[in-house]
Amino acid sequence: MSLLEDLSWRYATKKMNGERIPADKLAYILEAARLAPSSSGLQPYKIIVISDPALLAKVKEIAYNQSQITDCSHLLVFAAWDGYSEARITRVFNYILDERGLPHQTMDDYKQTILNLYEPLGTEWQAHHAAKQSYIAFAMAIAAAAEQRIDATPIEGFDTAQLDALLKLTGSGYRSTVLLPLGYRQEEGDWLVKMKKVRTPQADFVTELTLADVAAPADQPLPAASQR
Ligand SMILES: Cc1cc2nc3c(=O)[nH]c(=O)nc-3n(C[C@H](O)[C@H](O)[C@H](O)COP(=O)(O)O)c2cc1C
Repeated sequence: MSLLEDLSWRYATKKMNGERIPADKLAYILEAARLAPSSSGLQPYKIIVISDPALLAKVKEIAYNQSQITDCSHLLVFAAWDGYSEARITRVFNYILDERGLPHQTMDDYKQTILNLYEPLGTEWQAHHAAKQSYIAFAMAIAAAAEQRIDATPIEGFDTAQLDALLKLTGSGYRSTVLLPLGYRQEEGDWLVKMKKVRTPQADFVTELTLADVAAPADQPLPAASQR
């Protein structure tokens, strides 16, 4: 199977059947997420795994009662740092340097560069930046699940403040960003399962530029790719 076949197979499953997924497949999906790239390698996020039906029922209440939350096998909650700090960055860099057998000072200049960049942008910008990193791991988990023929539903439809309170994330330095229930589709009752997968045509999605294109006067906007 190719990655493109896997991505064509998957869809945002609307109805799951409650069946458990094997532990090795869950571990594979979590490992794919762990291997995701992140800005400066900081991995400013983590994943919380929930399979306890009682806790899933509580999560569902604050996720617009989306049935996949309780009909999944495992729910992955992606949570990202609520901001950057010298202590946090130092901890990660020191870990990386220890693993590589290098002195802690090796990355001091780089650390100062990113602190100088991030600090003036404020905590909200920083939290947003960290959240964006978590979505890269989220995408890796989605692709890995598809490869393992595990269904998944990307879910942003939930109240983050309420979920953070429920999961005791509030004040912990992390904020929930996005959810990924994993399980198996139940075709009956799933309105999306047989629908055609629709995406923006490649011609509109991808634009190839040359210097001549961008050197054009500002009042001459670039033609849409489909008209080029
Ligand atoms: C970040 C993100 C948030 C989403 N939130 C929800 C959601 O809350 N509930 C849901 O049923 N689908 C949700 N979706 C699924 C999208 O609607 C779906 O991926 C999109 O329509 C493309 O369809 P496909 O995934 O079936 O190919 C979300 C997708 C993404 C990437």
